[in-house]
Amino acid sequence: MPYNAPQKAAAVSTTKLLDMKRKGHRITALTAYDAPTAALLNEAGVDVILVGDSVGMVKLGYESTLPVTVEEVLHHLKAVKRGNGRALLVADMPFLSYEIDAKEALRQAGRYIKEGGAGAVKLEGGIEIAPVVKELVRVNIPVMAHLGLTPQSVLRLGGYKVQGRKPQEAEKLLTDARILEAAGAFALVLECVPAKLAGEITKKIGIPTIGIGAGPDCDGQILVVDDMLGMTEASLTFVKRYAELRGQMREAVQEYCREVRNGSFPGREHSFAQAPEASA
Ligand code: KIV
Repeated sequence: MPYNAPQKAAAVSTTKLLDMKRKGHRITALTAYDAPTAALLNEAGVDVILVGDSVGMVKLGYESTLPVTVEEVLHHLKAVKRGNGRALLVADMPFLSYEIDAKEALRQAGRYIKEGGAGAVKLEGGIEIAPVVKELVRVNIPVMAHLGLTPQSVLRLGGYKVQGRKPQEAEKLLTDARILEAAGAFALVLECVPAKLAGEITKKIGIPTIGIGAGPDCDGQILVVDDMLGMTEASLTFVKRYAELRGQMREAVQEYCREVRNGSFPGREHSFAQAPEASA
């Protein structure tokens, strides 16, 4: 079915997010991976849409985000772009697309901007990626940084665990946040860090923080859209499920199967009449 892309309202820019932080207006962000969902998020007034590398786990059936490629994100980014109107569109740089060297990072991020129509890119990591952040910002590619539980580091972290609980880990996260701000990042995702630490980082840096599993004191919030709509099975502590679509979808498909099998669908109201003159 076709859908109507929303009218272009005043688009959300990276500077608008900064302004929102200054004014104490909270930032809403969600992931999206296809055009109709992006259109829906626009209708609902979401400020930021992230085409996350979570696409690998949520839509492509991978066990982690590690196998996700630039091509795969680009494919979904183009679809989301077609459904987006107002939200700032951020594209995730997948594992090993930016860590090897800054030139490679520029090439791949450039594709997101030129081919995919992204307004910014997101990178995971702290001090070690600061030179790449600087390079991208130098060529005017806005960068959203991502600290705390960084899923691309799952092998080193030994699983998907809360980060920054110990004082020296917390200190490092704050230092990394400051370094990323100084490198030119326009916003910072804080994933699965203690709420108190997230609040402290939020107060101590000038760029907006967007929390996920980071408590109520960040400047904004992001969730994976399939999680908050209840389309995924796993129930994560930090996710509030605003709907239970998976159950509803399963029931609808079961009902469809029942009706096709017992002959009650399709009925006459779902069928076409023959033209009167076509008698043969
Ligand atoms: O890939 C993703 O969806 C993300 C968000 C969870 C922040 O990085």
